Amino acid sequence: MTERPSPTADTEQAAGVVVTGANAGLGLETARALAGTRRPLLLLCRDRRRGEAAAHGIRDEAAARTGMSSAPIHVVRCDLEDFASVREAAEEVRALCPRPAALVNNAGVYRARLERTAAGFERTMATNHLGHFLLTLLLEPDLRAAGSRIVQVTSKAHENGRLGRRPLDEILRGPADYRGFGAYSDSKLANVLFVRELERRWGADVIPIAVHPGVLASKIWDRNRTVAMWFVRRLTRFMRDPADAGRELAGIATAPEWDERGGAYVNLTEPVDPTLPEEPERLAAELWGRSAEAVGLAT
Ligand SMILES: NC(=O)c1ccc[n+]([C@@H]2O[C@H](COP(=O)([O-])OP(=O)(O)OC[C@H]3O[C@@H](n4cnc5c(N)ncnc54)[C@H](OP(=O)(O)O)[C@@H]3O)[C@@H](O)[C@H]2O)c1
Repeated sequence: MTERPSPTADTEQAAGVVVTGANAGLGLETARALAGTRRPLLLLCRDRRRGEAAAHGIRDEAAARTGMSSAPIHVVRCDLEDFASVREAAEEVRALCPRPAALVNNAGVYRARLERTAAGFERTMATNHLGHFLLTLLLEPDLRAAGSRIVQVTSKAHENGRLGRRPLDEILRGPADYRGFGAYSDSKLANVLFVRELERRWGADVIPIAVHPGVLASKIWDRNRTVAMWFVRRLTRFMRDPADAGRELAGIATAPEWDERGGAYVNLTEPVDPTLPEEPERLAAELWGRSAEAVGLAT
């Protein structure tokens, strides 16, 4: 078995955790749960004001619960669909937290209608996959040196992803046959394939894990004003509490029992086989190459 450094082991000064989309929903709940372990936190948020509000809330809660101040919590501005912003954020993360215990790639969007970023990429794919791909690769030296967990939030919707149906470049830029659920599923399949390719390339050093957190009563359903979403919002009382999923995700990011689970796809807290298209290794390798070109990295 490969020996990997373990920044999740108990040490005098616990290593920090980086969480994207940490101001709302699952990301906020994961950060709240991690604050309970007294780890330094880096909240990567696209809006600094919303990030600072989340950080204040977490600090106040820690103080009320323990009577002590929390470990340091930093807000780093990071708009995942803007690759210049991701590059600036990565610099800041490297300065603040050079040996992260974990990077939790959580932020995500669902867009009912085709929208493109300023750089011309389809917004769901840019946020959910490309931004996280770039952030992770920019942090590579630190993640590998620290033996970090790389926890990529995906979804069971990956089962409906059909990345092989068209040239990947077309899918990354927004195909003419765009459908919201199809694009979301493609981005979540990209998340699963990214974790598999990370395990193949960097698996001797890091612990990449893809997680489906369950169907959550979060703000994701409020962000599209369509009839379908109106119906889905009526069902939120039957969905999981994001706080439960956040506690689980915090455990997967830091608990030692996940040390040997590199490359896994996890449904809530159970490692299971993902549903993948034919030739997943070829597709994962091609996706890595196309994503690197898209974000301006040499492979
Ligand atoms: N909800 C579910 O049922 C469910 C099921 C399976 C998987 N998931 C996955 O769980 C993750 C979290 O979703 P959620 O349900 O917690 O959704 P949410 O409540 O809508 O929160 C999404 C978070 O992502 C952030 N975000 C969106 N676009 C961003 C960008 N361009 N750059 C940086 N951050 C951005 C949001 O920031 P703002 O507040 O500034 O917009 C927010 O903090 C996503 O990856 C989602 O696909 C959710």
